[in-house]
Amino acid sequence: MAFFMNDPFQLFQAWYTEARGTELNDSNAMALATVDAAGKPSVRMVLLKGHGPDGFVFYTNRHGRKAGNMAVNPNVALLFHWKSLRRQIRIEGPVTWATDAESDAYFASRSRDSQLGAWASDQSQPLDSRATFEARFAEMEQRFAGQPVPRPPHWGGYRVTPERIEFWQDREHRLHERRVFIREGNEWQEGLLYP
Ligand SMILES: Cc1cc2nc3c(=O)[nH]c(=O)nc-3n(C[C@H](O)[C@H](O)[C@H](O)COP(=O)(O)O)c2cc1C
Repeated sequence: MAFFMNDPFQLFQAWYTEARGTELNDSNAMALATVDAAGKPSVRMVLLKGHGPDGFVFYTNRHGRKAGNMAVNPNVALLFHWKSLRRQIRIEGPVTWATDAESDAYFASRSRDSQLGAWASDQSQPLDSRATFEARFAEMEQRFAGQPVPRPPHWGGYRVTPERIEFWQDREHRLHERRVFIREGNEWQEGLLYP
């Protein structure tokens, strides 16, 4: 059974695959917590778009608030909560930019509207009205008419390299299970925690 696997990435893969079959929508949605220069945390949802032993990848605007936080403090935390399975996974570690090639490939796989939206959206600025965003979107439609939409320079991937991964599983009578993996060099140390 999945819970007894020793490799945190295999265990992640097993739970993630299961969640894809049971969650109502967005089984790849995860909370991303960042900390600003003053040490204040903030959290928001993002979508997991790649994962494996080299890390967990999401994409965003590199001018936005979370990007500003990650530029001053690369230490972040991710949280999956799959209500349908009564499970959570916590992932902690530093973040780095995904390669240009990786960001280009993912951007190219998105719908044209999402691509144009990435050009039209300026997450670093307040927006005076929805109409302004729609006008910028229409401007981008014209600008790129009849040609592929390139990846905007301010948009790309981030990879979280995990140092700690914790799996939580609901059990009967409040006997929940917590299993933690801590990276030491290239090895993962595994332990149990009180629930
Ligand atoms: C389910 C869900 C998934 C989301 N996925 C992303 C994402 O992958 N990338 C992204 O930039 N914003 C995503 N968002 C929007 C963010 O939560 C957030 O509002 C936005 O990125 C601005 O965050 P910031 O001001 O902290 O930079 C998602 C929101 C929800 C509710």
